[in-house]
Amino acid sequence: RGKRAFIAGVADDNGYGWAIAKSLAEAGAEILVGTWVPALNIFESSLRRGKFDESRKLQDGSLMEITKVYPLDAVYDTPEDVPEDVKANKRYAGASNWTVQEVVESVKKDFGTIDILVHSLANGPEVSKLLSETSRKGYLAALSASSYSYISLLKHFLPIMNQGGSSLSLTYIASERIIPGYGGGMSSAKAALESDTRVLAFEAGRKKRIRVNTISAGPLGSRAAKAIGFIDMMIDYSFTNAPLQKELHAEEVGNAAAFLASPLASAITGAVIYVDNGLNAMGVGV
Ligand code: NAI
Repeated sequence: RGKRAFIAGVADDNGYGWAIAKSLAEAGAEILVGTWVPALNIFESSLRRGKFDESRKLQDGSLMEITKVYPLDAVYDTPEDVPEDVKANKRYAGASNWTVQEVVESVKKDFGTIDILVHSLANGPEVSKLLSETSRKGYLAALSASSYSYISLLKHFLPIMNQGGSSLSLTYIASERIIPGYGGGMSSAKAALESDTRVLAFEAGRKKRIRVNTISAGPLGSRAAKAIGFIDMMIDYSFTNAPLQKELHAEEVGNAAAFLASPLASAITGAVIYVDNGLNAMGVGV
């Protein structure tokens, strides 16, 4: 039987989550996705209306099938955690069972188990503010959506993950080097995510021999990145200064993810793997 993957953080065909889904589908995996509740309607209707058909094309000419789209808000673990105003919000009231615990219960009911978990989501409401001007609320929101969301997803999925499975997330070098513009505690959130990758690799490895890795990806003009505002500059900077002076394709991150999820990477866990044309290795821009 092919492997089954759950990819959290797919709401269009531009981001890393979509590219990872495609590479996993290309390798024969069955694809389930978790889509942020406010983005659910437009994503599902675009899928239905064929808006993504060109990007769904696999090498053999067939179209990637997404077996099921689950509404998800990874900031909430259980229904008790959801504040009244969110519950009442029109965009949320139209969907159901979208807290982490409920999504995992639904996946269990629908499919039993999964083999691969991918976390491809982040959010920092104050990302455009300097870290030194970030509010406590904004900082904690960045950590909640971008770091704890991963702990929560892995914690809830672990009981239904098959032995030997694999889990991964996406991080950014702003966790370890100064990247002005990546503010609001987002740099802190990525540092936490990378540290958690090591500790979770130990815990999931000992419990179920599940591997936990994170990909430190180079800049991509995704929807989330455009919202930060400096993405075009970062893409130009990378093109000029990286060892490999070429565009970074989302597909290259997808392929690295498929490798990490496969038996070819059976001894790799707790690792931060750079997929960035080598930019991380430079000491100065030239
Ligand atoms: P994207 O916009 O394709 O993906 C982010 C997704 O997170 C969106 O689909 C959004 O709806 C979802 N999301 C936000 N809050 C959520 C929540 N509370 N619950 C569930 N889903 C939520 O953008 P991108 O850039 O592909 O981001 C994917 C991952 O890649 C993120 O972790 C990001 O930090 C990381 N990354 C991106 C880089 C870039 O230059 N685009 C560089 C390095 C890492």
